[in-house]
Amino acid sequence: MEHLVSSWYNDRSLPESYILPPEDRPGMLSPGKNIPVVDLGAHDQTDILQQILEASQEFGMFQVINHGVPSNVIDEAMSVFKEFHALSAEDKAIETSKDPNKSCYVYTSTHNYATEKFHFWRDGLFHHCNPLEKYIQFWPEKPPKYREVVAIYTAALRKVGFRILEFIAQGLGVNPDHFSSELGENQTLLVNHYPPCPDPSLTLGLGKHRDPVVINILLQSDVYGLEVFKDEEWIGVEPIPYAFVVTLGALMRIISNGKLKGAEHRVVTNSNLVRTTASFALNPFNETLIEPAKALVDASNPALYKSFSYKDFIIKYRAAASYGTAFGEFLSGTPD
Ligand code: OGA
Ligand code: NI
Repeated sequence: MEHLVSSWYNDRSLPESYILPPEDRPGMLSPGKNIPVVDLGAHDQTDILQQILEASQEFGMFQVINHGVPSNVIDEAMSVFKEFHALSAEDKAIETSKDPNKSCYVYTSTHNYATEKFHFWRDGLFHHCNPLEKYIQFWPEKPPKYREVVAIYTAALRKVGFRILEFIAQGLGVNPDHFSSELGENQTLLVNHYPPCPDPSLTLGLGKHRDPVVINILLQSDVYGLEVFKDEEWIGVEPIPYAFVVTLGALMRIISNGKLKGAEHRVVTNSNLVRTTASFALNPFNETLIEPAKALVDASNPALYKSFSYKDFIIKYRAAASYGTAFGEFLSGTPD
């Protein structure tokens, strides 16, 4: 707990453990490039499907607008997220230690804090969301409106997530509800907090990674920070008010039998603004088997990946020395 960046960033210059090797530091962006923006409110469903499929294949990431989540729901969620991260370290610890099974917790940098070579400039509040009646009792009660507001927010995001997954399933040519049961029903929320950083040129909020999920719906706020790696170049993801950034996760690659890869991305810091973001992820349950969709496998298209449980995936993923980069290795020698 004493490690939370928000508890000490004001008093110090950038500690050495946050200084990344030169090749991993933020650098030049590919000028003038941006990720696609899909209007989910458009009438032509075939057109939406086509845009989502192309963006998924090309970038593994896109933004969505007119997604149906009211702006006041987003505003209220963002304000309780910010209020939570402004609590004292002691309050954060109390508010996240109600579940002995640890379905709710705070952490800093990555899950590998104790062993990682370098740290990242981020604190995170994580909790499970579904089924709500099982998990809400373990969510923070400070700020007082947290539970009420976040219950509404996550229910709305679940709908957006499944709608997008339905488009992706159709685009892939698998059953439209392929994701709507076990593969997406384990929903989690990760509220990231990146305090102002004394030297953004030397460190990152999060290193290059693929999300260990099926799909992630990110509220990135109005402060810049997210970048996606495509064709050996970094592209900045422009903040659009009330839009969500949809990121395909590492599991999508297995389920789609290599047709969709998921996006590699990172977060840069800045020196004067607090940045708070919220990643709502749709995941499989721990025991769910992850494997290439049967409809995509036949004699001429053999399964490229073996099946394994989500739990095994997470254990191996977290054990990987640097967040996300050992993914190819984990898939038994398949190039990443
Ligand atoms: C993440 C992530 C991006 C951001 O939570 O995995 O990549 O902008 N977040 O906070
Ligand atoms: Ni991510």
